[in-house]
Amino acid sequence: MKDKKDHINRKGIILAGGTGSRLAPLTISVSKQLIPIYDKPMIYYPISTLMMAGIREILIICSEYDLESFKKLLNDGKQWGIKFEYAVQKKPEGIAQAFLIAEEFLNGNPCALILGDNLLYGSDLINQLIMVNKNLSNATIFGYQVKDPERYGVINFNENKHVLSIQEKPSNPESHYAVTGLYFYTNKVVDYAKTLKLSSRGEFEITDINNLYLKENNLNVQILGRGIAWFDTGTFDSLQEANIFIKTIENRQGLKVGSPEEISWRFGWIDDKQLLHLGNKLKKSSYGEYLIELLKE
Ligand code: G1P
Repeated sequence: MKDKKDHINRKGIILAGGTGSRLAPLTISVSKQLIPIYDKPMIYYPISTLMMAGIREILIICSEYDLESFKKLLNDGKQWGIKFEYAVQKKPEGIAQAFLIAEEFLNGNPCALILGDNLLYGSDLINQLIMVNKNLSNATIFGYQVKDPERYGVINFNENKHVLSIQEKPSNPESHYAVTGLYFYTNKVVDYAKTLKLSSRGEFEITDINNLYLKENNLNVQILGRGIAWFDTGTFDSLQEANIFIKTIENRQGLKVGSPEEISWRFGWIDDKQLLHLGNKLKKSSYGEYLIELLKE
């Protein structure tokens, strides 16, 4: 299926670098983004999020050490009707470094970046993602109410709910709205990233990029309401919570969350025969069985 708007092609980036040190020893020999969330590798969830937005060209950024493992799992993407490319992050120097690494891949196109450990779920999410993906003139970030905002980028609003600034991990947060790890940017993002200086924690901060967009009056902050679940899986507890959440909802409904094969098939990017082939390859697991069952709908 050829998209008429092919010439303005938003590309996706998944940042799956980092050392995963907060999850050691789990992450000594395996990349954090490859460890399971219930019945699939963590990275399936952010891949699914980008696919639901309609994005079909995705750059996976990871460490040199993990590159082969990601390639073994994901290949070139053709099996899911999409395209994966890979790039190595030699030394983790913050989220905004992703745009410097991705410059060639982006080739002047707008992009969506998602952190490889972020999991988003909710009934209306797909519609929001499709809408945001179509907005090529503004950057869009998402705010989500959390109990512990000091762990995140935090949105400061004035009394009219107008966004004043974003602060990275403030010790006295001015709101309970955290910025999630999913960002939609215009093609200016690479130039913005080039102007950044390393922060006091030695990182090129994504929050600095967001504040640059805000200064240019070009930042759309979309609040994800209480019907949406957002997990970052950076600690043992948040990892376990995400596992339980996915297990509970999947087993109750008999529908899988974060299945790239299913999304691709529902979007018509792969056909029945291709889905059957993917299912057969995994048919000894309930994941494979599920893919085959979809064809009986
Ligand atoms: C990063 C960002 C932060 C954002 C968070 C979302 O935090 O710096 O602004 O709210 O991701 O997961 P970090 O992963 O560096 O703790």
